[in-house]
Amino acid sequence: MQINQIVHANMLEFTETLPENSIDLIIADGPYAVTNQYWDKIKSIQTYNLNLIKIFGKILKNGGSLYLFGKHDAIDFIDYSPFLKLNTRIIWYQPSRLAQGRNNFTDNYDVIYYFSKGKTDTFNLDDIRVPQLVELIHRKRCENVPSVKNGKFNKTRFNPNGKNPGNVWGDIKQLTYKSKELLDRKLLNTIQKPEKLMERLIKASSRPGDIVYDPFLGTGTSLKVAAELGRNVIGCESDEYMINTAYKRLKSVVKDLDINYEYSESLSDKSTIRA
Ligand SMILES: C[S@@+](CC[C@H](N)C(=O)[O-])C[C@H]1O[C@@H](n2cnc3c(N)ncnc32)[C@H](O)[C@@H]1O
Repeated sequence: MQINQIVHANMLEFTETLPENSIDLIIADGPYAVTNQYWDKIKSIQTYNLNLIKIFGKILKNGGSLYLFGKHDAIDFIDYSPFLKLNTRIIWYQPSRLAQGRNNFTDNYDVIYYFSKGKTDTFNLDDIRVPQLVELIHRKRCENVPSVKNGKFNKTRFNPNGKNPGNVWGDIKQLTYKSKELLDRKLLNTIQKPEKLMERLIKASSRPGDIVYDPFLGTGTSLKVAAELGRNVIGCESDEYMINTAYKRLKSVVKDLDINYEYSESLSDKSTIRA
Protein backbone atom coordinates (compact mmCIF):
# COMPACT_ATOMS: atom_id res chain seq x y z
CA MET A 1 0.00 0.00 0.00
CA GLN A 2 1.39 3.37 -0.98
CA ILE A 3 1.24 6.00 1.77
CA ASN A 4 1.48 9.75 1.32
CA GLN A 5 -0.61 9.71 -1.83
CA ILE A 6 -3.88 11.30 -2.87
CA VAL A 7 -5.98 9.56 -5.47
CA HIS A 8 -8.40 10.99 -8.02
CA ALA A 9 -11.11 8.32 -7.85
CA ASN A 10 -14.53 7.29 -6.70
CA MET A 11 -13.77 6.30 -3.11
CA LEU A 12 -15.96 3.19 -3.44
CA GLU A 13 -13.61 1.89 -6.12
CA PHE A 14 -10.34 2.99 -4.50
CA THR A 15 -11.14 1.86 -0.94
CA GLU A 16 -11.61 -1.70 -2.23
CA THR A 17 -7.94 -1.70 -3.25
CA LEU A 18 -6.65 -0.97 0.26
CA PRO A 19 -5.49 -4.02 2.24
CA GLU A 20 -7.62 -5.34 5.09
CA ASN A 21 -6.53 -4.29 8.61
CA SER A 22 -4.18 -1.59 7.31
CA ILE A 23 -5.54 1.80 8.42
CA ASP A 24 -5.37 3.35 11.90
CA LEU A 25 -7.84 6.18 11.45
CA ILE A 26 -10.48 7.15 8.86
CA ILE A 27 -12.02 10.61 8.67
CA ALA A 28 -15.07 10.52 6.40
CA ASP A 29 -16.65 13.93 5.75
CA GLY A 30 -18.61 12.87 2.68
CA PRO A 31 -22.23 13.16 1.52
CA TYR A 32 -24.89 14.40 3.97
CA ALA A 33 -27.67 14.16 1.36
CA VAL A 34 -28.84 17.71 2.08
CA THR A 35 -27.16 19.96 -0.48
CA ASN A 36 -27.40 20.35 -4.26
CA GLN A 37 -23.83 19.26 -4.88
CA TYR A 38 -23.94 16.50 -7.51
CA TRP A 39 -22.12 14.10 -5.17
CA ASP A 40 -24.56 14.82 -2.33
CA LYS A 41 -27.64 13.56 -4.17
CA ILE A 42 -27.96 10.26 -2.34
CA LYS A 43 -31.36 8.51 -2.18
CA SER A 44 -30.93 6.88 1.20
CA ILE A 45 -28.07 8.27 3.25
CA GLN A 46 -28.58 5.50 5.81
CA THR A 47 -28.05 2.74 3.22
CA TYR A 48 -25.09 4.65 1.80
CA ASN A 49 -23.51 5.00 5.25
CA LEU A 50 -24.11 1.36 6.12
CA ASN A 51 -22.07 0.40 3.06
CA LEU A 52 -19.32 2.83 4.10
CA ILE A 53 -19.23 1.38 7.60
CA LYS A 54 -18.96 -2.09 6.11
CA ILE A 55 -16.04 -1.29 3.78
CA PHE A 56 -14.24 0.87 6.34
CA GLY A 57 -14.62 -1.96 8.86
CA LYS A 58 -12.55 -4.17 6.55
CA ILE A 59 -9.60 -1.82 6.07
CA LEU A 60 -9.36 -0.54 9.66
CA LYS A 61 -6.90 -2.25 11.98
CA ASN A 62 -8.36 -3.80 15.10
CA GLY A 63 -8.79 -0.96 17.59
CA GLY A 64 -8.69 1.64 14.77
CA SER A 65 -11.24 4.48 14.57
CA LEU A 66 -13.68 5.99 12.10
CA TYR A 67 -15.21 9.48 12.35
CA LEU A 68 -18.22 9.66 10.04
CA PHE A 69 -19.78 13.11 9.49
CA GLY A 70 -23.48 13.62 8.92
CA LYS A 71 -26.83 14.89 10.07
CA HIS A 72 -28.87 13.75 13.08
CA ASP A 73 -30.49 10.84 11.19
CA ALA A 74 -27.46 9.66 9.16
CA ILE A 75 -27.34 6.19 10.72
CA ASP A 76 -30.96 5.74 11.82
CA PHE A 77 -32.49 2.24 11.53
CA ILE A 78 -29.41 0.53 10.14
CA ASP A 79 -27.51 -2.23 11.87
CA TYR A 80 -23.86 -1.26 11.81
CA SER A 81 -23.02 -3.43 14.84
CA PRO A 82 -21.61 -6.43 12.88
CA PHE A 83 -18.96 -4.12 11.42
CA LEU A 84 -18.00 -1.40 13.89
CA LYS A 85 -18.75 -0.29 17.42
CA LEU A 86 -20.38 3.13 17.91
CA ASN A 87 -18.54 4.83 20.79
CA THR A 88 -20.43 8.10 20.80
CA ARG A 89 -22.06 10.76 18.67
CA ILE A 90 -20.17 14.05 18.80
CA ILE A 91 -22.42 17.05 18.39
CA TRP A 92 -20.55 19.80 16.56
CA TYR A 93 -22.64 22.74 17.67
CA GLN A 94 -22.57 25.94 15.66
CA PRO A 95 -24.43 28.61 17.61
CA SER A 96 -23.84 31.26 14.98
CA ARG A 97 -25.49 29.32 12.13
CA LEU A 98 -28.17 31.47 10.49
CA ALA A 99 -31.54 30.89 12.18
CA GLN A 100 -33.49 30.46 8.93
CA GLY A 101 -35.98 27.87 10.25
CA ARG A 102 -39.67 28.81 10.08
CA ASN A 103 -41.44 25.49 10.56
CA ASN A 104 -38.92 23.71 12.73
CA PHE A 105 -36.10 24.46 15.13
CA THR A 106 -33.10 25.61 13.10
CA ASP A 107 -30.63 22.85 12.47
CA ASN A 108 -27.50 24.22 14.13
CA TYR A 109 -25.34 21.15 14.66
CA ASP A 110 -23.66 18.40 12.69
CA VAL A 111 -22.97 14.95 14.06
CA ILE A 112 -19.63 13.19 13.96
CA TYR A 113 -20.27 9.50 14.58
CA TYR A 114 -17.27 8.04 16.39
CA PHE A 115 -16.79 4.32 15.69
CA SER A 116 -14.01 1.85 16.40
CA LYS A 117 -13.19 -1.64 15.23
CA GLY A 118 -13.70 -3.48 18.49
CA LYS A 119 -12.44 -1.68 21.57
CA THR A 120 -10.40 1.35 20.57
CA ASP A 121 -6.72 1.08 21.41
CA THR A 122 -5.98 4.81 21.02
CA PHE A 123 -7.65 7.61 22.90
CA ASN A 124 -5.07 10.28 23.74
CA LEU A 125 -7.05 12.29 26.24
CA ASP A 126 -4.05 14.31 27.40
CA ASP A 127 -3.57 15.65 23.86
CA ILE A 128 -7.10 17.04 23.58
CA ARG A 129 -7.89 18.45 27.00
CA VAL A 130 -9.80 21.76 27.06
CA PRO A 131 -9.70 24.42 29.77
CA GLN A 132 -11.76 23.90 32.91
CA LEU A 133 -14.45 26.52 32.89
CA VAL A 134 -14.77 26.80 36.65
CA GLU A 135 -12.57 28.97 38.86
CA LEU A 136 -9.86 27.27 40.89
CA ILE A 137 -11.43 28.29 44.17
CA HIS A 138 -14.73 26.71 43.14
CA ARG A 139 -12.98 23.53 42.00
CA LYS A 140 -11.30 23.18 45.42
CA ARG A 141 -14.63 23.73 47.11
CA CYS A 142 -16.23 20.98 44.96
CA GLU A 143 -13.47 18.57 45.83
CA ASN A 144 -14.18 19.16 49.51
CA VAL A 145 -17.92 18.61 49.41
CA PRO A 146 -18.48 15.70 51.86
CA SER A 147 -20.38 13.57 49.32
CA VAL A 148 -17.39 13.84 46.92
CA LYS A 149 -14.69 13.59 49.59
CA ASN A 150 -16.22 10.61 51.32
CA GLY A 151 -18.02 9.00 48.40
CA LYS A 152 -16.82 6.58 45.74
CA PHE A 153 -15.43 9.42 43.62
CA ASN A 154 -13.13 10.67 46.39
CA LYS A 155 -10.07 10.37 44.15
CA THR A 156 -11.60 12.78 41.63
CA ARG A 157 -9.43 15.86 41.15
CA PHE A 158 -9.72 18.70 38.67
CA ASN A 159 -6.85 18.22 36.26
CA PRO A 160 -4.77 21.42 35.95
CA ASN A 161 -4.15 20.54 32.28
CA GLY A 162 -7.84 20.75 31.49
CA LYS A 163 -10.74 18.38 31.05
CA ASN A 164 -12.17 15.93 28.53
CA PRO A 165 -13.91 17.99 25.79
CA GLY A 166 -17.07 15.89 26.13
CA ASN A 167 -19.25 15.07 23.16
CA VAL A 168 -20.88 18.43 22.51
CA TRP A 169 -18.37 20.75 20.88
CA GLY A 170 -19.34 24.39 20.78
CA ASP A 171 -15.79 25.69 21.07
CA ILE A 172 -14.76 25.13 17.44
CA LYS A 173 -16.33 27.57 15.05
CA GLN A 174 -17.34 26.92 11.48
CA LEU A 175 -15.18 28.92 9.06
CA THR A 176 -16.48 32.30 8.02
CA TYR A 177 -15.48 34.38 5.01
CA LYS A 178 -13.07 36.20 7.34
CA SER A 179 -11.24 33.02 8.43
CA LYS A 180 -7.57 33.15 7.46
CA GLU A 181 -7.53 29.44 6.60
CA LEU A 182 -10.47 29.65 4.17
CA LEU A 183 -9.14 28.91 0.67
CA ASP A 184 -12.12 30.24 -1.29
CA ARG A 185 -15.55 31.65 -0.41
CA LYS A 186 -17.20 28.94 -2.52
CA LEU A 187 -15.96 26.42 0.00
CA LEU A 188 -17.77 27.97 2.98
CA ASN A 189 -20.20 25.99 5.17
CA THR A 190 -20.64 22.64 3.54
CA ILE A 191 -17.12 22.02 2.28
CA GLN A 192 -13.98 23.24 4.01
CA LYS A 193 -13.83 22.27 7.67
CA PRO A 194 -11.77 24.05 10.35
CA GLU A 195 -8.31 22.67 11.03
CA LYS A 196 -9.03 22.74 14.76
CA LEU A 197 -11.88 20.27 14.31
CA MET A 198 -9.70 17.80 12.41
CA GLU A 199 -6.88 18.34 14.88
CA ARG A 200 -8.99 17.15 17.81
CA LEU A 201 -10.07 13.99 15.97
CA ILE A 202 -6.58 13.16 14.77
CA LYS A 203 -4.87 13.85 18.09
CA ALA A 204 -7.44 11.78 19.97
CA SER A 205 -7.38 8.72 17.74
CA SER A 206 -3.93 8.35 16.19
CA ARG A 207 -0.25 8.52 17.01
CA PRO A 208 2.74 9.84 15.03
CA GLY A 209 3.61 7.31 12.33
CA ASP A 210 0.01 6.01 12.07
CA ILE A 211 -1.87 5.93 8.76
CA VAL A 212 -4.80 8.33 8.37
CA TYR A 213 -7.16 7.82 5.41
CA ASP A 214 -9.59 10.48 4.20
CA PRO A 215 -11.83 9.03 1.45
CA PHE A 216 -13.65 12.38 0.90
CA LEU A 217 -10.62 14.62 0.84
CA GLY A 218 -12.22 17.90 -0.30
CA THR A 219 -9.60 20.62 0.20
CA GLY A 220 -7.40 18.29 2.23
CA THR A 221 -7.93 19.79 5.70
CA SER A 222 -7.69 16.48 7.57
CA LEU A 223 -4.53 15.32 5.83
CA LYS A 224 -2.82 18.70 6.18
CA VAL A 225 -3.31 18.55 9.93
CA ALA A 226 -2.44 14.84 10.09
CA ALA A 227 0.83 15.37 8.22
CA GLU A 228 1.73 18.33 10.42
CA LEU A 229 1.23 16.01 13.39
CA GLY A 230 3.60 13.41 11.94
CA ARG A 231 0.99 10.95 10.65
CA ASN A 232 1.17 9.19 7.27
CA VAL A 233 -1.67 10.01 4.92
CA ILE A 234 -3.82 8.62 2.12
CA GLY A 235 -6.64 10.58 0.51
CA CYS A 236 -9.24 10.06 -2.18
CA GLU A 237 -11.34 12.64 -4.03
CA SER A 238 -13.54 12.36 -7.11
CA ASP A 239 -13.82 16.03 -8.04
CA GLU A 240 -11.06 17.38 -10.26
CA TYR A 241 -11.06 20.92 -8.88
CA MET A 242 -11.03 19.64 -5.30
CA ILE A 243 -8.19 17.20 -5.76
CA ASN A 244 -6.05 19.84 -7.41
CA THR A 245 -6.86 22.27 -4.58
CA ALA A 246 -5.93 19.61 -2.02
CA TYR A 247 -2.71 18.81 -3.85
CA LYS A 248 -1.60 22.46 -3.82
CA ARG A 249 -2.42 22.69 -0.13
CA LEU A 250 -0.72 19.46 0.86
CA LYS A 251 2.42 19.32 -1.22
CA SER A 252 4.46 21.59 1.06
CA VAL A 253 3.36 19.68 4.17
CA VAL A 254 3.45 16.06 3.03
CA LYS A 255 6.90 14.77 2.30
CA ASP A 256 6.98 12.87 -1.05
CA LEU A 257 3.29 13.50 -1.81
CA ASP A 258 2.07 11.64 -4.89
CA ILE A 259 -1.07 12.37 -6.88
CA ASN A 260 -2.51 9.26 -8.51
CA TYR A 261 -4.74 9.44 -11.63
CA GLU A 262 -4.89 5.69 -12.22
CA TYR A 263 -8.63 5.54 -11.43
CA SER A 264 -9.69 8.83 -13.05
CA GLU A 265 -11.14 7.29 -16.19
CA SER A 266 -14.10 5.67 -14.51
CA LEU A 267 -15.23 9.02 -13.04
CA SER A 268 -17.98 11.04 -14.65
CA ASP A 269 -16.98 14.47 -15.83
CA LYS A 270 -18.93 16.51 -13.29
CA SER A 271 -17.46 19.22 -11.14
CA THR A 272 -19.70 21.87 -9.64
CA ILE A 273 -17.06 23.97 -7.93
CA ARG A 274 -14.53 25.17 -10.42
CA ALA A 275 -11.81 27.73 -9.88
C1 LIG B 1 -17.75 17.83 2.54
S1 LIG B 1 -16.53 17.68 1.35
C2 LIG B 1 -15.08 17.32 2.30
C3 LIG B 1 -14.48 18.57 2.85
C4 LIG B 1 -13.18 18.38 3.57
N1 LIG B 1 -13.38 17.75 4.86
C5 LIG B 1 -12.47 19.71 3.74
O1 LIG B 1 -12.25 20.16 4.87
O2 LIG B 1 -12.16 20.33 2.71
C6 LIG B 1 -16.88 16.13 0.60
C7 LIG B 1 -15.98 15.81 -0.59
O3 LIG B 1 -16.21 14.45 -0.95
C8 LIG B 1 -16.07 14.33 -2.34
N2 LIG B 1 -16.79 13.10 -2.73
C9 LIG B 1 -18.13 12.87 -2.66
N3 LIG B 1 -18.42 11.62 -3.07
C10 LIG B 1 -17.24 11.03 -3.37
C11 LIG B 1 -16.87 9.73 -3.83
N4 LIG B 1 -17.79 8.77 -4.06
N5 LIG B 1 -15.56 9.47 -4.04
C12 LIG B 1 -14.62 10.41 -3.80
N6 LIG B 1 -14.90 11.66 -3.37
C13 LIG B 1 -16.20 11.97 -3.15
C14 LIG B 1 -16.68 15.61 -2.89
O4 LIG B 1 -16.20 15.90 -4.18
C15 LIG B 1 -16.25 16.63 -1.83
O5 LIG B 1 -15.09 17.29 -2.22
